[in-house]
Amino acid sequence: MKELPKLSLGLFPTPCYPLEAVSARYGRDIWIKREDLCGVALGGNKIRKLEYLLAEAQNNGCDTVFTTGSAQSNHAMLTAACAARLGMRCVLFLKERGVTEPRGNLLLDRLYGAEVRFFDTDQYSYIYDQMLALDEELSAQGHKCFAIPVGGSTPLGAVGYVSCAEEIASQCDSVGHIVSATGSGGTAAGLLLGAKLYLPGANVTGVSVYPDAFEDIVPQLAEDAAALIDVPFARTADDFRIVPRIGAGYAVPTPADTPYIEELARLEGVLLDPIYTGKAWAGMLELLKEGAFPGDGSIVFVHTGGAAALFAYDLPEP
Ligand SMILES: Cc1ncc(COP(=O)(O)O)c(C=O)c1O
Repeated sequence: MKELPKLSLGLFPTPCYPLEAVSARYGRDIWIKREDLCGVALGGNKIRKLEYLLAEAQNNGCDTVFTTGSAQSNHAMLTAACAARLGMRCVLFLKERGVTEPRGNLLLDRLYGAEVRFFDTDQYSYIYDQMLALDEELSAQGHKCFAIPVGGSTPLGAVGYVSCAEEIASQCDSVGHIVSATGSGGTAAGLLLGAKLYLPGANVTGVSVYPDAFEDIVPQLAEDAAALIDVPFARTADDFRIVPRIGAGYAVPTPADTPYIEELARLEGVLLDPIYTGKAWAGMLELLKEGAFPGDGSIVFVHTGGAAALFAYDLPEP
């Protein structure tokens, strides 16, 4: 495997352990991989991606980082946190959609000193044009900018998630399934590639919270990530699936998820957010009830972070 330049930004490996009370209640071994405990801000899946993406930015001599997302983007907040630590200027191009109150991640963006620019648009193409315009302006002043696309889900970002599967392989025996929330696809792609390398026989389920064609996007990202690190990637039947659980819409908490979020908090003390991990966890347990996790291997839920959203959204009554 080819080693790519990488920064050390998080505390890895993250813990991975069995959820005893949940497993007893649902009659199946369910483990949790605590990516929310990776040591930066409130943790989350973006740190593994940023270790590669920001290494590239630094190696290219960039002093400014741009990224984008929704107003409450966890990815944007974690980019701001890492850029601050690296002494880089960070400009966040956020989709406003009526959300500008300085709560949750927006409060943290400010704490980390990021410059937040709001855009009243639903189109990332419009936002990328704005990034290009600012890039030109700052370049003329002698700066060098590095633009990270939404979610950090480039092939290089996806490479970051290969190591998560490698850690799971050494932390948990008999992994049958790995489940995570899917919002831009890079995490699932890295897990799919990592499972091929370190957990042959384990299947990856992405619970999608955004209406994109992840059935195609994720395997393509995995293939492109494999090319970057020079390893083979061949699909097998059932190695990956996408299960949609968008509910009332992207970034809209869904009442049906609230009991599952409360159950995990009360049984195991683990916090889920209502935008990503709450939807993925609820989706996983409903699939389990339907018998949709064949075999008797453990199910490993990858907790991808997002807790700041608990302080920005209400948990709707079911
Ligand atoms: C908390 C959380 N979980 C999961 C995801 C989805 O990860 P990916 O964008 O790699 O699909 C995100 C992405 O923004 C996130 O913030």
